[in-house]
Amino acid sequence: MSEWVEACSEGDVETEDVIRFDHGGRTFAIYRSPDDEFFATDGFCTHEKMHLADGLVMDDIIECPKHNGRFNYKTGEAKGAPVCINLKTYPVKVEAGKVMIQLD
Ligand code: FES
Repeated sequence: MSEWVEACSEGDVETEDVIRFDHGGRTFAIYRSPDDEFFATDGFCTHEKMHLADGLVMDDIIECPKHNGRFNYKTGEAKGAPVCINLKTYPVKVEAGKVMIQLD
């Protein structure tokens, strides 16, 4: 069963940035794109267990801080070595200034 969970306020994430969100023993990453949309993925890189929230957002790409692996945070697509496993993404909506993500 899926549920919508409040991850943060809109103002908690700067444009073209990412923050960490922990919930239910899991870690997620919440992104705000340059065109001001919000996205959510699993919080750890699929290469090794590194927090993507410590990485760098560039357009629609998150670059992992450990080995510079890159993912498209909108689709989860791994963009090449050393990352080859896609990142799980989650639906996001903004309601009354709150960023909500849908967990399964
Ligand atoms: S841990 Fe992310 S690229 Fe290696």
